[in-house]
Amino acid sequence: MHNVLVTGGAGFIGSNFVRYFLETHADCHLVNFDALTYAGNPENLSDIEGDPRYVFVRGDICNRAAVEEALKEYKIDTIVHFAAESHVDRSILGAAVFVTTNVMGTQVLLDAAREHAVERFLHVSTDEVYGSLGPQGKFTEETPLHPNSPYAASKAAADLLALAYFHTYGLPVVLTRCSNNYGPYQFPEKLIPLMIVNALNGKDLPVYGDGLNVRDWLFVGDHCSAIDLVLQRGAPGEVYNIGGNNEWKNIDIVRLLLRLLNKPESLIRFVKDRPGHDRRYAIDPGKISRALGWSPAVTFESGLKSTVEWYLAYRKWWERVMSGEYMEYYGKNYEAR
Ligand code: NAD
Ligand code: DAU
Repeated sequence: MHNVLVTGGAGFIGSNFVRYFLETHADCHLVNFDALTYAGNPENLSDIEGDPRYVFVRGDICNRAAVEEALKEYKIDTIVHFAAESHVDRSILGAAVFVTTNVMGTQVLLDAAREHAVERFLHVSTDEVYGSLGPQGKFTEETPLHPNSPYAASKAAADLLALAYFHTYGLPVVLTRCSNNYGPYQFPEKLIPLMIVNALNGKDLPVYGDGLNVRDWLFVGDHCSAIDLVLQRGAPGEVYNIGGNNEWKNIDIVRLLLRLLNKPESLIRFVKDRPGHDRRYAIDPGKISRALGWSPAVTFESGLKSTVEWYLAYRKWWERVMSGEYMEYYGKNYEAR
């Protein structure tokens, strides 16, 4: 039996992971510790609210007392750390909250984990810490860190802190670095859900620059299965890259989505490029595949189709997100610690 604290479990990947973990591990207790920023939406987990193994705590990872109280009250032995500011465009508009949450919040969690002798700390990171690739090659765990956006720099700083706590204090930390995720409950500020909801609303689809930047897409459920495996069997102090060898140019994804939605390409608008826009990401997943036997289960064709179907079926979910209603409702119903 494990008592697991998941940070950021009300966000996109965190909520998918919470559901995955409860489905996969009958014998566990799971605490979802989330500040409910604009990206946190407890509605993502409304189906499991009655599960006796699950507790939601509204709390900020930067608040040491709140973190310690949760670790103590729920006798936490395992932390899976998703909580972060996650959107590159927002980090370009203002880096401060990225440093506060992603760097200082991670340091607070690491200190609290030491204090409470946590047995396992999985830090969820990103391929963006490696920077940008040319037309050839892939990121391995040995690729030097070269973050280019304030978001990526804050994640790289957090990664280095987490590894330093392993080397200095022996805290059993393990790191994952995944490529771009897509799937249900992704906030419609990221490429795939933004293009879907804009197309459904008959609005323009803003493609940055020439649209030829490349991202390596993974279905969120496959990211969850990889994290779970690293949590069970990953070696402390190690980094595991996660990706499905699935590179796409942005413009090709946008065209594919329009075809799936039966909408015209005339909705595409090429707009000013993102400052410092990384050209290409591609993950070499060889280590996690060899060491832990992980491989993705969902093809891009079926994952993208089911994601489009999800956004069609869950129109109410994204309309409440777009209108801001989701925040008003839950702001009233969850007390902050
Ligand atoms: P998200 O923005 O959808 O969710 C972030 C969650 O963290 C939200 O629920 C938010 O309320 C919570 N949060 C933010 N600040 C907090 C704080 N101070 N205290 C407690 N909770 C706080 O993010 P996501 O896309 O689900 O990403 C989750 C993690 O995975 C992040 O660490 C991100 O860097 C990493 N990651 C994301 C991707 C991707 O494609 N989305 C890929 C690789 C890695
Ligand atoms: O690689 C992992 C990272 O993927 C995660 O660490 C981040 O949290 C996550 O946000 C994501 O970062 P990206 O910047 O790659 O994702 P985003 O969805 O913002 O953009 C994907 C690509 O699409 C990128 O090349 C920019 C482009 N884009 C994005 C938006 C929002 C557009 O052309 N138009 C848009 O409106």
